[in-house]
Formats: sequence, C-alpha cells, structure tokens
Amino acid sequence: MNGSAPRPVGDDPTRPDPASDPFSRARRGERALLLIPLRQADDAEVETAEFSELARSAGAEVVATVTARVQRPHPATYVGEGKVEEVAALREAAGADLVLVDHPLSPVQERNLERLCKCRVLDRTGLILDIFAQRARSFEGKLQVELAQLRHMATRLVRGWTHLERQRGGSIGLRGPGETQLETDRRLLAERVKILRRRLAQVQVQRSQSRRARSRGELPTVALVGYTNAGKSTLFNRLTGAGVYAADQLFATLDPTLRRIEGLSCGPLLLADTVGFIRELPHEVVAAFRSTLAEAREADLLLHVVDAADPEHPERIRQVDAVLEEIGAGDLPRVLVMNKVDSIGQPARSDAVDGGGQPRVWLSAATGQGIDLLRDALAGHFAALRTRYEVFLPHQAAALRAALFRRHAVESEQATEAGWLLTTRLGAAELGRLQGEQAPAGLRVRALPD
Ligand code: GTP
Repeated sequence: MNGSAPRPVGDDPTRPDPASDPFSRARRGERALLLIPLRQADDAEVETAEFSELARSAGAEVVATVTARVQRPHPATYVGEGKVEEVAALREAAGADLVLVDHPLSPVQERNLERLCKCRVLDRTGLILDIFAQRARSFEGKLQVELAQLRHMATRLVRGWTHLERQRGGSIGLRGPGETQLETDRRLLAERVKILRRRLAQVQVQRSQSRRARSRGELPTVALVGYTNAGKSTLFNRLTGAGVYAADQLFATLDPTLRRIEGLSCGPLLLADTVGFIRELPHEVVAAFRSTLAEAREADLLLHVVDAADPEHPERIRQVDAVLEEIGAGDLPRVLVMNKVDSIGQPARSDAVDGGGQPRVWLSAATGQGIDLLRDALAGHFAALRTRYEVFLPHQAAALRAALFRRHAVESEQATEAGWLLTTRLGAAELGRLQGEQAPAGLRVRALPD
C-alpha cells in the first residue's frame, strides 16, 4: 500500500487491537429482544415488521418482541416501569443478549434500561448506524458513518458502562467506534474525531484518483437502490448467481456488495448493492446515509428496486427519486424494478420507455419470474450506448483483442498479414481506454455508420 492510499478504517493505531478486545469479536446472530414503543396512530403490526427487518439487516436474530403504547415518555426509561419489568423478564426467559428499542433514547434512558434489563440496549439511531457501518463501501462513506457513530456515542461517554463489564456479549452497535471500554475514553475519542476529519479532507483528492483508476480498468457498473426490504439483496443474488464465479472471490473479499453479472449479450457488468432507504431516518444519521448512498453516483445505471406489494410504493418511489436528485444522481439513467409480482398475483412484464419516463420491469426476485426481462433491459441499455467502429489491431495486441472479445464488443473480424481487422461496438469509455496511454503502435480506429 503506498503512502497516499486510503487505509481501512479498522487499521488505525488509535483503535484497540480487535484480537484482545472482547467487545469487537464479531458474533453473528446476536439474539435480540425488540421493544417497540407505539404512538396512538401507529399500527403495531406494521411497526413490528419494519423494526424486525431492520434488526435482521444488522445481523440480529429476533427472539422476542414487546410493543408498548407510550402516552408520555418516562424520563428515566422512556417506557413505564411495568413495561421495563416485562421486558427484563422476557429477555431472560428468551435468552436474548441485546434489547433493541425502536425509538431514539437519551443516554440516561439507555443506561437505566441496560441496568434494569441486565444486558446491552441499543436505540433506533444506534441500530441504523450499525447497519450503515456494515454497508458503507467507499472510504468516504465509512468515515462519515464512523463520525456519526462517534457523535452518537459522545453523549454516552460517562462512566456508566461498568455494569456491562461482565456481559461482554455481541457486536451489534459496537462495531466501528465504541468497541472497548478503552475507546470510551474521551481523549481517545477526540483524537479519533480529529483524524477522521483530516482524512475526510483528503478524500476529495483520493476520490478523483480512484475514479481515474476505475475508468481505466473496470466494467460498467450498475447500482441497486431502494427502500430496505424492497428485495435488493435477493435481486443482487439472483442476478449475480450468488458469487459462483471464481473471479468474484476477489470482490467477495474486498467488497461483498460488488459482483459481476455474466452472460449478457453486452458483456459482463458489475452490480453494486447500496444501503437501503429507511423510514423515519433519525436526523443524526441523514448525512452518513447520504454519503454512503453517494456511491451510487459513480454508477452508469441505477436499478431502483420497489416493493410493488407495498401499498405505499408510489410515495416511496418519489422519496427515493428526491434523494437521488439531492445527492447529484438525478440524471443517471434508471430502470424501475417492480419486485414481488408473485405476491400480488401479477405476471412478469416489461414496460417500454414511454415518453421519456423510466422503463419498468415487473418481476419476482424471489421466484426468478421476469429476471430474463431485466437482463434483456440491461443488455439493451448498454448495447444502445455503443457505437460501431472498425479497429485494426497489430499482432502484438493479442491481449487487447482477447479483452474486446471478453466484453462482447466484437461483431466480426478478418485476419490480415499484419494483424486483425475488427468490426466492434464500443461505448465512449471503452473507446477512450482503447486509444489511451497504452495503445499499441499501429492501432487504427474508424467510426462506422450504424
Ligand atoms: P435491506 O438489505 O434491508 O436493504 O433489504 P433488501 O432490499 O435487500 O431486501 P431483501 O432482499 O433482504 O428482501 C426483503 C424481504 O422480501 C425478504 O424476506 C425476501 O425474502 C422478500 N422478497 C424479496 N424478493 C421477493 C419477491 O420477489 N417476492 C416475495 N414474495 N418476497 C420477496
């Protein structure tokens, strides 16, 4: 790694050694009890389903749920005394290691609940930040999420954590910052914030460098966006065959949310998953969410996944569109994926682009119904961006010839004494790469009429 390359957030001298830190030992499937405070108008079933989904997104196994109608929040514990007793008893009976509360809590409320329930308690903000910490891909996204986590933790850094010393369980909400007692030290925290700020300032430069590197080497990228629970991960697995390709091993270790789509007539594409939109995002996490989502800006095409079975989906589409506009991704071409047709009894179908609107593909990521229509839409989109060129390659450019074939860019070829004469279809970026710094001597390119 050279001096200017970004270091992973976890690789930092101000952070404790994970091996010697019991809090940072990743444990999948922490057993969580959900406490769901309800306002008068809330539908218990809807709120429970949504919060369970969030908990699962963070990797928790939901072992019990408790709802509570809250007329007036209790200053010490948010919910009333009787409810806390119920939760504490149920937590013990269900063997939960963690209580997740579907509401922002004050630091005092969180600590009191921890003491009374005898386990770690995480509020909605902490849980959402944890999900973002797991999903942030870019260096900038990771820094932003960590800063938000530190801000959230800063108010909780009082000497009230000793009651947890013997519990030592779990990782949810303690990933990233706050992994040890040590890191709750204010001096370390301030130092860490300073470092993060400095790095964020450097990110601008690094981002333009990495963009240049990417435009040289990588394939066209498609990003999945949409509300949590819309089916992005299911579609991601369906389109990429859940990483059966050996070449994906590289991406799997570097980045579990980036994989290849193979077998398209336009050649392979890269598919990126992004953090899901969440209803009622706490204000502390909005900046972190946007910067994590901003990775979508780098994509060549967005697949906006919609839960067509959700009666509120038209409103959700508008909300996603508005945020994409705000982060500067409003102009990117988009395909609307109307998912879950199996549960609304509709056939799979593909709607053509009507009067400049977004093309829509109705499918089921779970059953696979209509996936071919989406694959056709993807191939059609990228094929349409290509122009025909006649390319002459000298013999020493055999590797380049092979690369063009791999990209499905070659329509026909003719061997000559000096090399190959190819009829190709190339996108603007591909043409740029071909004629770039490493172009072989003797290469000739001529545009052809379509
Ligand atoms: P986050 O990771 O939280 O952002 O959610 P997501 O958008 O990745 O959704 P995910 O793929 O995890 O799916 C959410 C739920 O919807 C899961 O229970 C899936 O099994 C279900 N689901 C996904 N696609 C379909 C579908 O086509 N039909 C039906 N009936 N259910 C689906």
